Amino acid sequence: MGPVRIGVIGAGFIGRVHLKQFSELGGVELAGITDASPAFAEAAAAEFGALRVFASADEMIASRDVDAVVVAVPNKFHAPLTVAALNEGKHVLVEKPMALDGTAARAIYTAARDAGLTVMVAHQMRWLPPVIEAKRMVDSGELGEVYNAKCGMMRRKNIPGWGSWFTRMGESGGGPMIDIGVHVLDMAMWLLGDPKPVSVFGSTYAKFGPHKRGTGSWGTPDWDGVFDVEDLATAMIKMDNGSTLTLDVSWAVNTLSDNSHFVDLMGTDGGASIRGNRLVFTGQKFDRPFDIEVDAKAVNDARTLLARHFVESIRTGSPPISDAMSGLVNNTILDAIYESARTGKAVELDWSFSRES
Ligand SMILES: NC(=O)c1ccc[n+]([C@@H]2O[C@H](COP(=O)([O-])OP(=O)(O)OC[C@H]3O[C@@H](n4cnc5c(N)ncnc54)[C@H](O)[C@@H]3O)[C@@H](O)[C@H]2O)c1
Repeated sequence: MGPVRIGVIGAGFIGRVHLKQFSELGGVELAGITDASPAFAEAAAAEFGALRVFASADEMIASRDVDAVVVAVPNKFHAPLTVAALNEGKHVLVEKPMALDGTAARAIYTAARDAGLTVMVAHQMRWLPPVIEAKRMVDSGELGEVYNAKCGMMRRKNIPGWGSWFTRMGESGGGPMIDIGVHVLDMAMWLLGDPKPVSVFGSTYAKFGPHKRGTGSWGTPDWDGVFDVEDLATAMIKMDNGSTLTLDVSWAVNTLSDNSHFVDLMGTDGGASIRGNRLVFTGQKFDRPFDIEVDAKAVNDARTLLARHFVESIRTGSPPISDAMSGLVNNTILDAIYESARTGKAVELDWSFSRES
């Protein structure tokens, strides 16, 4: 098999990250780039050595010179572009969230299944060294039965691109829960061994954003724009095996936080706590609690490992670890959190469709 020919849709912040990764990866040809701003696309093509600038995402998706596309554009375009690419026989690496909501996520899941092509959601946190090591601990049984977990990311003053697509519900699907909660939720579910979520309770708040407070340096603000999403969200997810996961995220909040992600896995034989790049094993011996700092360093960048995994999945035909089903579960939980926040009631999840042929 020749090189995997990859086209990147979107030359913004994360599109450029993917361009860098794939331009440095062996066995890959950077077949092209496209962006709604032709100037962005031209500049990125020159910088990363892409063979061609396509006039539009549609033109790239239809091209016979492309095997796989990376969807790195605002959230509302993820599902339409991913489904269109699958229908044209292309593998897809789609940025998070996989889709705006569960309905759109289901369209991706079905299209991927019917086409027999690779769809991978870009959850690079799965390849962070402490996450890889914590996963090994869980899978090897070192923690015993993991029955409760906490995770989150509390950014104190970091509303991205106030007024731009980031803070417009119709284009982003929500605030920090769908922007960064999506990552920690994916990471925690992966660490827990993908249990089946059955019930979700959540609340959302917007105390800073509507007053143009709590803004950060990420994205380009549009001060005449709109902020109609949350700036803090909290949720509890109950699984069919009785275990629970709580999730707290914010773009702007008054609390002690280093702005980074955290996960606490609580098992009968031990715990694993992730704080950014740190991993700590927590246990009890002779009736006393103890902590052991775990050395979890890796040479490779998580994003490099993600890019490599995508190409390997295409070559081998084996599903990627963050496949369309994991994206669908993620979107379904996010929908339930927002619905629960609106209604004030817990939402029971319905998985009956997964038994449909
Ligand atoms: N995995 C991560 O850690 C991570 C980090 C940041 C962003 N993201 C995700 O990546 C996506 C993009 O975020 P960003 O920060 O790069 O945004 P951005 O605003 O910097 O870039 C988006 C780019 O898409 C282009 N664009 C918009 N609509 C388009 C279309 N229909 N066709 C072609 N180009 C189009 C814009 O011109 C812009 O250059 C979002 O879904 C975001 O959630 C993921």
